[in-house]
Amino acid sequence: MRAIQIVELSGPDGALRAVDLPEPEPSHVLAPGSGVVVEVHAAGVSFPEVLQTRGEYQVKPDLPFVPGSEVGGIVRSSPADSTLKAGDRVAAFCLLGAFAETAVAPEWLTFPLADGLDFAQGAALILNYHTAYFALKLRGRLSDGETVLVHGAAGGVGTATLQVAKGLGARTIAVVSNDRKEVVARDAGADEVVRSDGPWKDQARELSAGGVDVVIDPVGGDRFTDSLRSLRENGRCVVVGFTGGSIPEVRVNRLLLNNIEVVGAGWGASVMNRPEVEREIGAAVGRLVDEGYVKPIVGARFPLDRAAEALQLIDSRGATGKVVLEVRRS
Ligand SMILES: NC(=O)c1ccc[n+]([C@@H]2O[C@H](COP(=O)([O-])OP(=O)(O)OC[C@H]3O[C@@H](n4cnc5c(N)ncnc54)[C@H](OP(=O)(O)O)[C@@H]3O)[C@@H](O)[C@H]2O)c1
Repeated sequence: MRAIQIVELSGPDGALRAVDLPEPEPSHVLAPGSGVVVEVHAAGVSFPEVLQTRGEYQVKPDLPFVPGSEVGGIVRSSPADSTLKAGDRVAAFCLLGAFAETAVAPEWLTFPLADGLDFAQGAALILNYHTAYFALKLRGRLSDGETVLVHGAAGGVGTATLQVAKGLGARTIAVVSNDRKEVVARDAGADEVVRSDGPWKDQARELSAGGVDVVIDPVGGDRFTDSLRSLRENGRCVVVGFTGGSIPEVRVNRLLLNNIEVVGAGWGASVMNRPEVEREIGAAVGRLVDEGYVKPIVGARFPLDRAAEALQLIDSRGATGKVVLEVRRS
């Protein structure tokens, strides 16, 4: 099969090679001796793969390896006790190995793909939407009628968070850096959009009559203190990632004085050993798909052999929605 490997840790420009590899066995590191083999039609591309080309992500396999954590495709084979059958359309989280014509995922991280979603949308569904639900609901304890501020709102996690938040009955305020991203955030369901280089904290407090209930922050960096200042009493700031480059530090007196919380949300770390929690998240996101709230926004599509360009787009802060590799034309 054709695949893309990371062969050196020199960044998106030079780290990738197109190679021919044997087809994978039906076994996954998270479920040894068992796995769903998927004919890959589309592979999702995300910030972690950019970091992996520099050896800067927490998942650091030995070189060379095939990156890519999620796919949309068709089941080729499944474990005997699975309800999935050959020929089913699925969205699957394989952790690694998605930048290839065939990939393997654990059964509990493989979900039927709704008829209304194409394979590219399937490849955009698990990492970002399961993270969004986990961050908003399980970690941020979002309730119907609350207001959520979303940083990096035109990105993969950001657009997913806006859609899931609407599905959970919240009002949404998106923070973005330019006009093009404002359009994307509005398409994803933002009720209000403010600019990251403007007085967004004061605007957010004004738009929410005194402070938002939840901040979802995949960006970090120097805007973090203003995120805390934008919360109302009992507000929760949910830490999701650090695309801004630096990891912020919290002066905890702010938490005490304003009765607010900083909450970490690491979806992968939480569900990898808890299939039952992941199934619950999958069912909840599936309901939001059926209800029409979740419809992944695919921003850019590249063929498999142009994976480097996909990573460069994310690295240059140019991506909107989800970036996808079209592995097979469907
Ligand atoms: N915790 C978890 O379980 C989990 C799961 C999935 C992903 N993540 C993390 O979430 C983060 C976002 O991932 P994503 O897929 O949404 O990425 P993305 O699509 O590239 O979006 C990231 C957004 O961050 C903003 N940003 C601000 N400063 C930036 C900078 N210096 N460089 C690049 N972007 C910058 C950009 O928005 P503006 O230009 O509008 O500011 C951009 O749209 C990553 O750190 C990823 O590792 C965490």
